Amino acid sequence: MENIKYLFEPRSIAVIGASQDTTKIGYKVFENIVLSGYQHKVYPINPRGGEILGISVFKSLEDVNENIDIACIVIPSKLVFDAVKSCAKKGVKIALIITSGFSEIGNIEEERKIATYARDHELRILGPNIFGIYSSAASLNATFGTRDVRPGNVAIITQSGALGASMIGKTAVENIGISAMVSVGNKSDIDESDLLEYLITQGMTKIVFMYIEGVREGERLIRVLNEATKKKPVVVIKSGRSEKGAIAVASHTGSLAGTDAVFDAIIRQSGVLRAESIQDAFDWCKFLSNNPLPVGEHTVIITNGGGGGVMTADACEKYGVSLYGDIPALGRIFSDVIPDFGSTKNPIDLTGQATSLEFDDALNSALKADNIHAVMTLISEVAGFDTENMYGFIDKYTNQYKSQRKPILFSCFGGDKIESCIKTCSAEGLPVFGDVYEAVSCLGGMYAYYNYLANRSDEVAIADIMVESIEDIITKVIKDKRKFLLANEARDVMKAAHIPIPKSHIARSLDEVVRYSEQIGYPVVMKIVSRDIVHKSDAGGVALDLENPDEVIDAYQAIIQSCKSYNPNAKIEGIDVSEMARPGTEFIVGARRDKSFGPIVMFGLGGIYVEVMKDITFRAFPLSRNEVMNMIKEIKSYPLLLGVRGESKKDIDGIVDIIIKLGTVIQKCKNISDIEINPLLAYEQGEGVKALDIRIIL
Ligand code: COA
Repeated sequence: MENIKYLFEPRSIAVIGASQDTTKIGYKVFENIVLSGYQHKVYPINPRGGEILGISVFKSLEDVNENIDIACIVIPSKLVFDAVKSCAKKGVKIALIITSGFSEIGNIEEERKIATYARDHELRILGPNIFGIYSSAASLNATFGTRDVRPGNVAIITQSGALGASMIGKTAVENIGISAMVSVGNKSDIDESDLLEYLITQGMTKIVFMYIEGVREGERLIRVLNEATKKKPVVVIKSGRSEKGAIAVASHTGSLAGTDAVFDAIIRQSGVLRAESIQDAFDWCKFLSNNPLPVGEHTVIITNGGGGGVMTADACEKYGVSLYGDIPALGRIFSDVIPDFGSTKNPIDLTGQATSLEFDDALNSALKADNIHAVMTLISEVAGFDTENMYGFIDKYTNQYKSQRKPILFSCFGGDKIESCIKTCSAEGLPVFGDVYEAVSCLGGMYAYYNYLANRSDEVAIADIMVESIEDIITKVIKDKRKFLLANEARDVMKAAHIPIPKSHIARSLDEVVRYSEQIGYPVVMKIVSRDIVHKSDAGGVALDLENPDEVIDAYQAIIQSCKSYNPNAKIEGIDVSEMARPGTEFIVGARRDKSFGPIVMFGLGGIYVEVMKDITFRAFPLSRNEVMNMIKEIKSYPLLLGVRGESKKDIDGIVDIIIKLGTVIQKCKNISDIEINPLLAYEQGEGVKALDIRIIL
């Protein structure tokens, strides 16, 4: 962290491979540094010597007598290792390897060799395969992109160099002020977590935008994101939503936990705003960095057109913006300023005959009202509205609202004058949009962050489970050279985790089958126990709903017979006799150790259609009880838990407990990779839940 500061505020720079040839990247990087206004020493390094832009070239790094904080390396890949060695020898703090031709094309060994050498010699590496860094704190542009950058308060970290380079130009066009833009490339050493950790502390950065393609140290990234979002909003675009093959398909939890689904859930859990497109990301960054967070959630729409108002209300629903619905209160605030044929219900409709004066009245009333916290203003081009002075109008209210911590956004629709006003306003950083959806998406981003801050909690829920008993079971399975637990072992794990399961016993004879059935109470279920028979139903190894001793005896004989003919070599360990659980609503609960993000938990609609419905959700573990509740509410089938068509509410607390218990098992028992209950039967509130089928994989 200490050294990362020098990346953003170096006190001296060397460019290894600075060239006189103006077409070369080595010239461009040097030129950008010199002409971007960087105030400290820049040393061009090139064995040919000479001068570039009037500055004497050093033939080698050793020839420079001063200390060097960062060195930009712009020479062919086969020469980079030697350059890195000379940087380490010189005591350079960070080497920025712009050169391509390493792990991204399979040249993994060379990259590893460089990274290891650098680590051993306390030299940090940014890259390789990067376009450089822009840092407004040092008026530094050490990239080979455009010099047309507008300084400001948005920091951008990008894994794609080309996208980053073009984003520099694009942010200038969009008038987005940049505090820093860093390309991380192949991340052989410095990665987005290192940079984010620093940027949280950097005063001028108000928001961070990250473009990510792949995550290596997921657990660390989550930790850093959790810290970052406490202080600043973070917007992320992650490409590569469908990463086939990277997923272990040993269990539902595994196959359903497509890396993107997990990534998505986890970064949202960390308060990150995930954007789908660069345009959304830019819009959010611009809006959130220019406007203070609101003090409450009540939003009103003020419009001079009914259609636009309805569309905006739709957009608000889509982006999770809550419209203020206290009709009498709205009547008190707006009735004096709305014509009789208008509407004081939200949307507040000033009607098509509204002039700028009516807008003035309505916006002033909303500004004064303590119970209104944000305003979406829609202006459709109508004869009465003064489009000539629209810029002044928007500027005035934006500033007045800002001083009261009330976000106000404008969506304007019409001809040339309106369009040119939108452009001018947007260039000045005023929140004016052509499309209501674009505007509401910004407000939605702001409220997503607001709600995260309002509800975030550092409390984590860990269950009290019998870890040693579980470890004993696991040790036996490992000794037995198995990667999965048998049904009775899985049930013992459930008992040790205090998870309710149907009463059951393993019977090894006909006598025992009858005795256990009597003990458990009819009806009972019987299942074959054999490690050689995985699909029990296919083998005729299951009998349900057995009501009396005769049915039990018949079923016993039928099961043994059909399993023997299904697989004559199968070793039959016994017959599992268990209580026939009464029907409940079926859910799936799982936990697994994700390759990148560590322990995660899953919840969703269970039963045999799990993979078809894919109505599931994930979270990183541990988490607060409150967050487990949010997770449960997130699935589409959540209304089933509240009870539909006269059913009563289900035992949601019981489900929360199970999720926390499975997460705790995964967190504490390192040999377990996947644990899953499907179905978990949920009964009525107060009547608990029951784990019917359990799968545990090592
Ligand atoms: N120290 C200093 N300078 C050295 C050197 C050394 N050890 N060895 C060679 N040089 C000089 C060369 O003499 C040359 O200078 P010159 O023009 O005065 O002759 C300069 O360094 C560059 O070397 P050159 O062989 O001409 O390479 P290049 O400019 O054609 O390509 C890269 C170098 C780094 C640009 C190229 O290898 C590359 O990786 N390009 C892709 C960059 C990229 O896209 N990065 C990712 C962006 S997202």
